[in-house]
Amino acid sequence: MSGDLSGKRALVTGGARGLGAGMAQALADAGAAVMIGDVLDDLGRETAEHIAKTGATAGFVTLDVTDDDAWAAAVAATIAELGGFDVLVNNAGIEISALVVDLDATELARMLGVNVVGTALGLKHAFRAMRPGGAAGAGGSVVNISSVAATIAFPGIGGYSATKSAVDRLTRVAAMEAGKLAYGVRVNCVYPGLVPTEMGIKLAVDCTSMGLFDSPDAAVAGVIEQTPLGRLGEVADIADAVVFLASDASRFITGAGLPVDGGMGM
Ligand SMILES: NC(=O)c1ccc[n+]([C@@H]2O[C@H](COP(=O)([O-])OP(=O)(O)OC[C@H]3O[C@@H](n4cnc5c(N)ncnc54)[C@H](O)[C@@H]3O)[C@@H](O)[C@H]2O)c1
Repeated sequence: MSGDLSGKRALVTGGARGLGAGMAQALADAGAAVMIGDVLDDLGRETAEHIAKTGATAGFVTLDVTDDDAWAAAVAATIAELGGFDVLVNNAGIEISALVVDLDATELARMLGVNVVGTALGLKHAFRAMRPGGAAGAGGSVVNISSVAATIAFPGIGGYSATKSAVDRLTRVAAMEAGKLAYGVRVNCVYPGLVPTEMGIKLAVDCTSMGLFDSPDAAVAGVIEQTPLGRLGEVADIADAVVFLASDASRFITGAGLPVDGGMGM
């Protein structure tokens, strides 16, 4: 645990599985009540139930982050069920690998929709709810999940990297607006390194199909070789950083991007 979140109420997008599920559990372990928002209803409910069994308050709301109205409903549900809204983790994301010569307009637009529009709408609805006079009105912290892909040039993920660079820049502008307009909301982002979730494992397989590595194992070895700390990331590595940025332990930090990548992007 890397911060105290007692009494805080958090919404984690894409929290049904993978990094988001780990973040939701870590926030709960740090004392927060958590709401998971995801398009995977059954899995999202199961994950929330699992967290509730550890003694925390945890709920689920159906949320497609590309849908403005769904955001309004998810934030309203979070406030109604948890009694407030102090932390948003904009974690939902998709990765569609392609060499630049093979980029597909529809798939690029889909990635832009989830990773960029989804994050931007999350910021919009969090600001509206958390700022003075908002439905929650007590300020808060937003943590956006970018990627080491925004800090290095790794082949096969040009489109994805562009969306994660956009998340990085959105973070800075949103932090500036929130500060200048006295919303009482801090905004930061994390750049995770490769973690073997469904997305991470698929990327290693895609690298092989794109002819960049001889096998998924070779792709993983290539990443480890570029990582000073000499291993892949674990879900808890990323989740602990999110807890830190969500909590008052980071109270004078806003507009920052924190690499949690074993040094890969240095
Ligand atoms: N795994 C990695 O190596 C890695 C590295 C850097 C950054 N990231 C980022 O971390 C985040 C989580 O990745 P992960 O590895 O857990 O991926 P994952 O595919 O295992 O999980 C992603 C979650 O997001 C949800 N989601 C997808 N589209 C959605 C939408 N439109 N609305 C709401 N939810 C949606 C999925 O249902 C799923 O629960 C993503 O933003 C990803 O880009 C992952």
